Amino acid sequence: MNAHSFAVLRLLADGAFHSGEALAQRLDLSRASIWQALQGVEAAGVELYSVRGRGYRLAAPIDWLDGQRIAEAQGASAARFHVELHDEIDSTNTLLMQRAAVGAAHGTVIAAERQTAGRGRLGRRWQGELGGSLMFSLLWRFPFGVAQLSGLSLAVGLAIVQALEQLGVQGAGLKWPNDVLYQGRKLAGVLIEVQGDALGPSCAVIGIGINCRLSAATQATIDQTVTDLAQAGMGAVPRNRLLAAVLGELAVVLARFERDGFAGLLGDWQARHLFHRREVDLLAPSGLRRAVAVLGVDADGALLVDGGAGVETVRVGELSLRAKS
Ligand code: BTN
Repeated sequence: MNAHSFAVLRLLADGAFHSGEALAQRLDLSRASIWQALQGVEAAGVELYSVRGRGYRLAAPIDWLDGQRIAEAQGASAARFHVELHDEIDSTNTLLMQRAAVGAAHGTVIAAERQTAGRGRLGRRWQGELGGSLMFSLLWRFPFGVAQLSGLSLAVGLAIVQALEQLGVQGAGLKWPNDVLYQGRKLAGVLIEVQGDALGPSCAVIGIGINCRLSAATQATIDQTVTDLAQAGMGAVPRNRLLAAVLGELAVVLARFERDGFAGLLGDWQARHLFHRREVDLLAPSGLRRAVAVLGVDADGALLVDGGAGVETVRVGELSLRAKS
């Protein structure tokens, strides 16, 4: 993307045709500059149609993130957050971790329309799509230490599912520790990074990526089975309302987590756990796969399983869970 790409995209956001000449006039640029700006847009994965005699149009309209619309949808809870919007940055988590280290306020939110180096769990890359994903990070400061943050990533997954329920999405659920799935495919992911001492205080940068409407081309670049909110029945996804709803649920869930730990959220989490009391495969980083029965999660957010030799406790980061193949 070059310096003009986002300005051109904003004019194309309605999904209608716009001639190169009209775009050039609106932005006081040459037609060659418009063409150049749009080359970057296509390279970034945005689907664009170019028809001789009619001009350019996006394959799908873009509902841009907008501070005022987010605040309106948040209502009174807007005062608890400081939302900062970016067109393009490397990663909202990376930027917020830097800001957290130099004293950024509790409740700071950084959202981006595009990430050039989005990060996932376990060192993976997170692939979003401009206009088709919601990608943001929230800074939350805790009075206690990092040792007490176990279970936090599960709490965040719960907040996302509750926000989706509030917006009418039915059937989304949780896969331990914090993936949000719909019909067995990944809808949203959470990456939490922490700073602070074992005894406190501490803070967490909570990074969330939600697939709203991913093109077939983007889905093909992702090495996991993914889905999006459009397929989960949401149609045109109102990203500003979605961000407001997730922040609202996070405020409630994180306050409870701060007061009671994950124990206070365990029942709500288990009610949405898609693999509760089911047979699954546990996958070790070495690639070793082992069949176990899921018994539930404990008050620290660890997974309780039975592999035939009694109850075992699996901690976040040790192993990952797969539906039985
Ligand atoms: C995962 O499931 O692997 C976690 C994905 C987390 C992605 C989000 S997008 C916003 C934030 N910034 C990042 O670089 N990653 C998180």
